[in-house]
Parts: sequence; structure tokens; C-alpha cells
Amino acid sequence: RAHYRRRFTQVLVDEFQARGLRVFGPRKAAAELEGSKVFAKEFFARHGIPTAEFVVAHDRPEAERAAAAFGLPVVLKADGLAAGKGVAIAQSAEQVAEALDLFFGERRFGTAGDRIVIERHLTGEEVSFFALADGARLLPLATARDYKRLLDDDRGPNTGGMGSHSPSGLLTAEQGADILETILYPTLAGLAEENRAFTGVLYAGLMLTEEGPKVLEYNTRCGDPECQALMLRLEDDLLPILAAGAAGNFGISRLHFRKEASAVIVLASEGYPDKPERGDPIEGLEAAGQHPNVVVFHAGTAEREGQVVAAGGRVLGVAATGVELADALRSAYAATQEISWQAMRYRKDIGRRLLSRLEPGLGARA
Ligand code: AMP
Ligand code: GLY
Repeated sequence: RAHYRRRFTQVLVDEFQARGLRVFGPRKAAAELEGSKVFAKEFFARHGIPTAEFVVAHDRPEAERAAAAFGLPVVLKADGLAAGKGVAIAQSAEQVAEALDLFFGERRFGTAGDRIVIERHLTGEEVSFFALADGARLLPLATARDYKRLLDDDRGPNTGGMGSHSPSGLLTAEQGADILETILYPTLAGLAEENRAFTGVLYAGLMLTEEGPKVLEYNTRCGDPECQALMLRLEDDLLPILAAGAAGNFGISRLHFRKEASAVIVLASEGYPDKPERGDPIEGLEAAGQHPNVVVFHAGTAEREGQVVAAGGRVLGVAATGVELADALRSAYAATQEISWQAMRYRKDIGRRLLSRLEPGLGARA
């Protein structure tokens, strides 16, 4: 579903523009940056944007040769959107063969697997960086982090995200400036130069390597649930900024974020991400919403006979702000205790590892 939703959004922007309607988002040509890994990697190479060394392979023998040349571990990526399942990090020759079976043999991803990217495995800390773009200028958002794995201590399968907080606690202001200068601005300039001027949210997935930051991938949208954490800290009125950006010029030089921190705990249903249970009535929404500094975001809910029921994988995001990150997390978890349905599941460790190695005062940092 995410796959179709995303593709549809790309066309929607073009449709709006064709009808003379203002819309803030990337046109289909600009959204190729997320839609095709081959396009993205070749684009990075054309513009000297730091990324992992790579080869594009069109068939299995070519892919095998490339993988062997990089050594192990090696990273293999299907070209198109594959709902997060198109990337394999192979630790052994068997795992390389399994990934190639999947991409070329079973054709699980349809045309998404026609070409694959083989790339060098990078090591370092993985971070995200978000900015709004109006085609020519960027307004960086505050830092935010997501927790992709389903279970505590980063175990279990990848998901869309099980929790988030802002600030991320991972990037200094200097690192942020470096990422803007070496990666995001060259990306925006390169896209404009290629007649794919980018308007919308640029979300870079990066690895902080010993040689400096390198881009792993771009998403051409805001992350979920990072967006909720970021919006709770935004001081500016977003609508006029987006309207100005859609018209081609934000007209301001920076966004303003509250010093307080924010955190989001995702409440999911048993069975997510594969086959979530649906239909349970949800209790305690009102009580949770009455907690101070708490907002409960609905994602996969529906109304049935006047009662809110769980109707999807990630069902709710319980978000809170606080002076320090620890306060925001504590408030979000306290409000979470009010909510229940039979198949409710959530991670108990969002932010925990970070807090154990951080000094107080993080709430006051970007
Ligand atoms: P991607 O969709 O390209 O971001 O890849 C999904 C995940 O695979 C990333 O979030 C990283 O954790 C990992 N990954 C992708 N490319 C590399 C790489 N070259 N080296 C190490 N890990 C990678
Ligand atoms: N939370 C990661 C994403 O939205 O892709």
C-alpha cells in the first residue's frame, strides 16, 4: 500500500501543476531520487555527491562479478520501490546468491529488480537529515531519529518506524552544516541543473564514515513518525511557508524550533508489519489526550458504531514534548499507559540507550 500511495503522490503533484493549482511536493521527475536507486546513485556520481562506491548490474553474472570485486560484506539493492525489502546486506557468498535469487530469479519486485545496484558496505553511525526545499533553497528541519526495528533492543524485522524523538542526539551543529554543504545543497543544485528542480521535503539517510558523511539514500517525503516529532517542535506557522515554497521561494532564511524536546511512541497491532490484527476497540484515547503536553496522532484507526477501532499496522502515535528529552519520553510513555486494545504492541525502549549515555541539557540542543 505504501508503494502505491507514494507513486500516486508523485503523479498528483504533476496533475495539480497541470491544472494551475499550488502544491508543495516533488514532481515525478524529481521524486525519481527516491523511486529509482539506479537513478539516485548515477546522479550522485554525476554531481560528485559522497556515496558508497557502486556498480549497476543488469544480469546475474554481472552482479556476481561486481559483488566478488567488492568483497564481503556487500550491499545489493533492487532498483525500484520495494517497501523496504529491496536491500540486502550479504555477509557471505550464500547470502549474495540468495539476494540475487530474490532480485533476478523469483522477480519478487517485478520490474523493480530488472537492474540492481551493488555497493560497498559502509560502516559508521547512521543518521537522518531533513530539509524543506523550494527548488533552489533549503530550510533545514531540526534533527530527529527513528527506530526502525519492530522489537526492543533493535531486534525483529524492519518497520516504517516504531518511535522517534527530536533532537536525535546524534548530530552536532557542525556535522549538520557539513551535511548541508557537501550533500543536500549539491543534490538540490544537481536536480535543478537536470531540469528536475525539487520542491518538497528532502530526507537524506546518511552514514557518518571516517571519510565524512555519505548518502545511503534519499526519501522525497518526511519520515513517519519523525514528522510528528518535528512538527511538535516547530514554532513557525507551516502553511504560509509551504505556500511560498510551492510558489518557488520560501522568502525566509530559517525555521524556528522550540528548545523543548519531543518524542513519539508508535502503538502497533500484533502481527505488524506482515499481517496486523484489525477491529479491536481502543480504550483510553480521551484520558491519554488529557495528559499535559501530549498529542495522540491517529494513523490506522477507524470508527465503528461510534467507537474508535484499530484498523491497520501502526495504529497510533503518542507524542509529547518536554524540557529535556527524558521528560518528553516519560510523558509519552505515561500517556501510552492509558491506552489499550487487545492486540496493542509497542517498543518500551525508545530513547533508552541514548539517555543512558547523554548528559542533561539535550532538550536545549538543535
Ligand atoms: P537504503 O534503502 O538504501 O537506505 O538501505 C536500507 C538500509 O540498508 C539503510 O538504512 C542502511 O542501514 C543499510 N545500508 C544501505 N546501504 C548501505 C551501505 N552501503 N553500507 C552499509 N549499510 C547500508
Ligand atoms: N520512518 C522512516 C520512514 O518514514 O521512511
